[in-house]
Amino acid sequence: MSLPAIHPSILNADQAHLADELARVDSADGLHVDVMDNHFVPNQFGGPALVEAVLAHTSLPVDAHLMVTDADRWAPQYAEAGCAIVTSHIEATTAPFRLAGQLHRLGAGVGIALRPATPLAAVEPLLGDIDLLLLMTVEPGFGGQTFIPAMLDKIAAARRLVGERGAQLRIQIDGGVTEQTIARAAEAGADVFVAGSAVYRADDALAAISALRECAAAHAH
Ligand code: DX5
Ligand code: ZN
Repeated sequence: MSLPAIHPSILNADQAHLADELARVDSADGLHVDVMDNHFVPNQFGGPALVEAVLAHTSLPVDAHLMVTDADRWAPQYAEAGCAIVTSHIEATTAPFRLAGQLHRLGAGVGIALRPATPLAAVEPLLGDIDLLLLMTVEPGFGGQTFIPAMLDKIAAARRLVGERGAQLRIQIDGGVTEQTIARAAEAGADVFVAGSAVYRADDALAAISALRECAAAHAH
C-alpha cells in the first residue's frame, strides 16, 4: 500500500479564476481533471485544452477522468496533452488492452474507471495492465453528491483482488469524499482520493487537504 494521495477535482473550482484556484491546492498530491461529453454523463466539462491550460499553472501531476463515450478514440490526446494518468471508463472502452498499450507508449499511466453498478469482474482481466483502478462512489456527472455506502464492500473486494494478483496499481475513489467518508474508504483499501467540494468549498483548501490526508493515513488499510 502506498501513502494516501489527495487529488482535488477542479470541477468545483471557480472556473473564471482557475490559476488562483490551482494555487489554493498546491499541497495536493495530484490534480483531477474531469471530462464530460454530455453523452456518457448528462453534463459537459473539460477537454485537452483545459488540461494544457491547467498544466501551465501547476507542477502537480494531472489525472484526467474521461466520462466520455468512445474513450478509445479520445483518450490518447490527453496523454499527448501531458496527463500523468489518463482514466477511461470500462463501460465506454471497446479495446482496453490496446488503449492501455497506446497510452503507455505515449508516456502516460493508465486508469480504468467503473460506474457504481458495474461489477469488478469487468476489469479483472485488465489488472496487470493498468496503473490505477477508479471506483466511482457516486453516479458520475456532478460534484457535491453523497457517497454511496454500498461502495465500501466493492473497494474492499477490489483491494483483495489486487492483493491476490500482486498487481501494482492504486485504487482511487471519486465522489462524496469528505472527512466523514474518507476514513472508511481508506480502511476498505482505497489509497487515492478525489475530493471536489470537500476541498474547493472549504475556506482553507490547504487545511482541508491536510485533514483529509491525515484522516486517510490514520485509517489506511
Ligand atoms: C463526478 C466527478 C468528480 C467530482 C467529485 O462525476 O467525477 O470528480 O468532481 O466531486 P465531489 O468530491 O464534490 O463529490
Ligand atoms: Zn472525476
